[in-house]
Amino acid sequence: MKEIVVSGIRPTGNLHLGNYFGAVKSFIEMQHNCQCYFFIADWHSLTTHPHPDNIRHNVKTILAEYLACGIDPATATIYVQSDVREVAELYLYLNMNAYLGELERVTSFKDKVRSQPDNVNAGLLTYPSLMAADIIVHKAAKVPVGKDQEQHVEMARKFARRFNTIYGVDYFVEPASYHLSETAVKVPGLDGSGKMGKSEGNAIYLVDDAETIRKKVMRAVTDAGPTVPNSPKSEAIANLFLLLNIVSDQTTCDYFNDQYNACTIRYGDLKKQLAEDISRFCTPIRERILELLKNDAYLDRIALQGAECARASAAKTLREVREIIGFRGN
Ligand code: TYM
Repeated sequence: MKEIVVSGIRPTGNLHLGNYFGAVKSFIEMQHNCQCYFFIADWHSLTTHPHPDNIRHNVKTILAEYLACGIDPATATIYVQSDVREVAELYLYLNMNAYLGELERVTSFKDKVRSQPDNVNAGLLTYPSLMAADIIVHKAAKVPVGKDQEQHVEMARKFARRFNTIYGVDYFVEPASYHLSETAVKVPGLDGSGKMGKSEGNAIYLVDDAETIRKKVMRAVTDAGPTVPNSPKSEAIANLFLLLNIVSDQTTCDYFNDQYNACTIRYGDLKKQLAEDISRFCTPIRERILELLKNDAYLDRIALQGAECARASAAKTLREVREIIGFRGN
């Protein structure tokens, strides 16, 4: 039997390089060997109170972008979270065994309390139990995510184990985060520190055109340049090199590294090369996105087909869960 894989992305804007290299690249590589469920986490996006028009538009956009990246609907199940209501029922059960103290200690919750103090809602607090429901509803063993989501997957493991212990069963699989490289990926932004993110305003989107990419990269934060050979890189420069490592070939990376170590580097040249290599990567994806966005009927069909398949898997789990808890199975 194929290993089961689940992962999702919130529809709060376009996919950026962080999403691609942190998660989507793994989806593409895993889809042919594993049984994959990739979904659009529209319930999760409610934690920041979007408008209905935004939800519809953003869900369609992410669907087109998933497909444009190379996720194949003939092999992977692509669906919208809110189409599978069984997930909400499992979320309810998991919340009964999720404790305030542990939820309050989650890093993403603490960040949100700081960044949106006027909207600290219960959905934010219980974000990890909804995410756990997404994952364990299909009994997934692997969850391809970037570094920022590792703690959430760790919580999903804990909730799965706790359910098994409370009801004395060996029912849920304990999921683990998965990444292509040895360690989880954290794609940096262009602002000198931290990760690339939608809300950080430092992202390059897959749908950006060459000129937009060039402008963003040329504005990226740098420093005054090395004065001593082989000196360590500042965070801003290390980030640019990290991006170069992701999109450029080895010869290009070696060339700029040598230039840096010899103190002859011109950051303008590095940025020009980086912008070109990012554009080369994004352009074919961008073209497919724009093409797919014209085809509403096709996108609707994919979402419908994915919903049916994901619902069948989730309904089976919920029938069994209800019986384990002591409710009627159907
Ligand atoms: P989201 O929408 O913030 O991000 C989607 C995926 O992209 C990864 N990612 C990154 N990876 C590396 N570097 C970056 N700069 C970067 N930015 C984003 C994220 O790690 C993630 O894998 N809670 C999730 C969505 C979700 C989910 C799930 C994921 C809901 N239920 C169940 C897996 C399984 C989220 O907000 O991801």
